[in-house]
Amino acid sequence: MTVTDTDTEEVRIIESGKNPERFARGWHCLGLLKTFQDGKPHQIEAFGTSLVVFQSETDGSINVLDAYCRHMGGNLAHGSVKGDSIACPFHDWRWNGKGRCSGIPYARRVPPVAKTRAWTTLERNGQLFVWHDPQGNPPNVDIPEIEGYGTDEWTDWTWNVQLVTGSHCREIVDNNVDMAHFFYVHYAFPRFFKNVFEGHVATQFMNSTPRQDIVTGTSYDDPNSTLSSEASYFGPSYMIDKLVNVANGVTVETILINSHYPVSPDSFVLQYGAIVKKLPDLSDEENAQMADKFVDGVTLGFEQDVEIWKNKARIDNPLLTEEDGPVYQQRRWYEQFYVDIEDVTDDMTKRFEFEVDTTRAVQSWEAEVAENLKLKQAQQV
Ligand code: FES
Ligand SMILES: [Fe+2]
Repeated sequence: MTVTDTDTEEVRIIESGKNPERFARGWHCLGLLKTFQDGKPHQIEAFGTSLVVFQSETDGSINVLDAYCRHMGGNLAHGSVKGDSIACPFHDWRWNGKGRCSGIPYARRVPPVAKTRAWTTLERNGQLFVWHDPQGNPPNVDIPEIEGYGTDEWTDWTWNVQLVTGSHCREIVDNNVDMAHFFYVHYAFPRFFKNVFEGHVATQFMNSTPRQDIVTGTSYDDPNSTLSSEASYFGPSYMIDKLVNVANGVTVETILINSHYPVSPDSFVLQYGAIVKKLPDLSDEENAQMADKFVDGVTLGFEQDVEIWKNKARIDNPLLTEEDGPVYQQRRWYEQFYVDIEDVTDDMTKRFEFEVDTTRAVQSWEAEVAENLKLKQAQQV
């Protein structure tokens, strides 16, 4: 990198802006379905409010309501499931999955206005989603089904949950276009990197190898392994990442979910998990171990991200080079989820493609890795 005399003396100022008070419109994954199928109510802090999730004993459906009872504010998540309703612990008012008060055992009649907010849900891929829209419109998009999930050929979900405080969830979405951080933060070595945005979907294509100078225990312990990844956000918060890893001569297919839901303007719950296509030569147990090992690597990756997020500034005007991915374009795409549906512009949804020319980065990183390996060898002699 050279400094030329066209450089100005002016100091670049970070524009931090403010985390939006509004939460994104879209489907948000709350976790694995089976978490909510234990007959108990669950409290979820999301979208600046409290929700209760419970399973109807009558039809098995999973329901999401505002957590606080419209009678006197009791916390429904501390109540119990009775039939198709959740019963408040305070005075036993019953609320069904549609948000209707379905009974008040001690009262002659249920007030006709006894209706609380019921959230639209979706059960897909063994996971529970809620639709969040500040305007109250019904869902206008879908979450795709993951082919293979639920069949005998794939393992079941591993699943991890982590609360991230002090950051807006835009930080995690920025990762999708941030080629260079994969080398520096995640010890991967990106060699091909491309983004495509269209409609409500933002995709990242990446081919990478592990950094041979840093052993992370990922990529199944083969320093010469290759990883190809096609990762798409379907809406603001749910990413399906299809990975093909070739290590030790074995090809392993993994589907990684990377999802989050906002808790407040400056905190969110990160959830991720994976399924692995079973290798026929391995037992179910060994296949599950393989999935666990893969997710250990992913966990490490998120811990590395969180460490950066916790200590960084919000920045609305990042200063970029040609080797950085399309941060501004992706933020424009992301903006569609934070404005009223009538205000979504073409600019936010029209197809946009950008491939980072990685030539220069790969050259410099290869040199850096070689240098580190040489140093390591010298230390060992
Ligand atoms: S506050 Fe819920 S029943 Fe009274
Ligand atoms: Fe990252």
